[in-house]
Amino acid sequence: MLTTPLRAALLGAARSERLRAAAEHSRLARPVVRRFVAGETLDEALPIAHALATDRYVSLDHLGENVADRAGADQTTTAYLTLLHRLGAEGLARRVEVSVKLSALGQSLPGGGPAISTDNAAKICAAAAEVGTTVTVDMEDHSTTDRTLETVRTLRADWPETGAVLQAYLRRTEADCRALAGTGSRVRLCKGAYDEPASVAFRDRAAVDASYRRCLRILMTGAGYPMVATHDPELIALALELGAGREFELQMLHGVRPAAQRELAEAGHRMRVYLPYGAAWYPYFMRRLGERPANLAFFLRSFSTLR
Ligand code: FDA
Repeated sequence: MLTTPLRAALLGAARSERLRAAAEHSRLARPVVRRFVAGETLDEALPIAHALATDRYVSLDHLGENVADRAGADQTTTAYLTLLHRLGAEGLARRVEVSVKLSALGQSLPGGGPAISTDNAAKICAAAAEVGTTVTVDMEDHSTTDRTLETVRTLRADWPETGAVLQAYLRRTEADCRALAGTGSRVRLCKGAYDEPASVAFRDRAAVDASYRRCLRILMTGAGYPMVATHDPELIALALELGAGREFELQMLHGVRPAAQRELAEAGHRMRVYLPYGAAWYPYFMRRLGERPANLAFFLRSFSTLR
């Protein structure tokens, strides 16, 4: 949200195929990436999910976005079905849900992408319901917002517990919060992680934070289930104040403010950790660097030895 030239450059680099290929093959990048990403395989991620689930809740995300073809979309869907089977088999479904990106399920493919991704998401929702957990549909850049909310509406006809995500940096989001604050509606409110134009988004921190506060008030006075996804201490304090006496949850990313996560869980608040895993970690990781460039120097050093 804080739109600095450095952040814009990092988010631009997040879209580079050449950098992605170099980074994802670099063994040297792994230690710093591991702070945010549970590992490249489900077998690496599940022990971390088990450990987190002792005091927190988890949303597992199989990394990947913008698949190039139908086969890629089908592979992502299969990865989620395997993941959900394992959650059921390992007794994790009560505390661990899944997050999915529709672009990883084929949303942007030519010739009916939204229908393909909605069908794939439906298979994932059915498998989640079977083992007793839920699905939240991540929100990507603003060009996909309408299509993504349309898919969530379709999924909710059969699986009303399907979670939506709204981004406070978008000018439209207050209205979307009103529309989605109905009974039982699970809505994750985040600030937003993409580099969006001023025509559709607030671009300075104060305006994004003010929008977040307005949106939070709407969700907290509505009849839905707010999922407050932020690491911002002031917004968390506001959520605790507005949410006193009602059901809601706090959410943070794996690797960000872990001590605060534990403290909030210990104080009796429902705290969920977004836990990504998979080989396609590059765009996710670059968005995390864009939020806090402090890790950048270390990450770039890991590249300087690449040939
Ligand atoms: P802000 O960026 O202002 O950070 C507040 C403070 O938190 C910082 O001062 C710092 O201390 C700490 N912090 C934040 N990010 C950090 C980082 N990467 N490394 C270290 N410290 C950090 N976005 C989106 O567009 N679509 C989505 O579906 C989701 N889903 C989602 C799920 C969950 C559970 C979370 C927590 C976040 C998302 N996001 C997201 C990302 C979100 O939009 C946003 O980019 C980040 O959460 C950072 O914003 P904050 O609200 O934390 O505030």
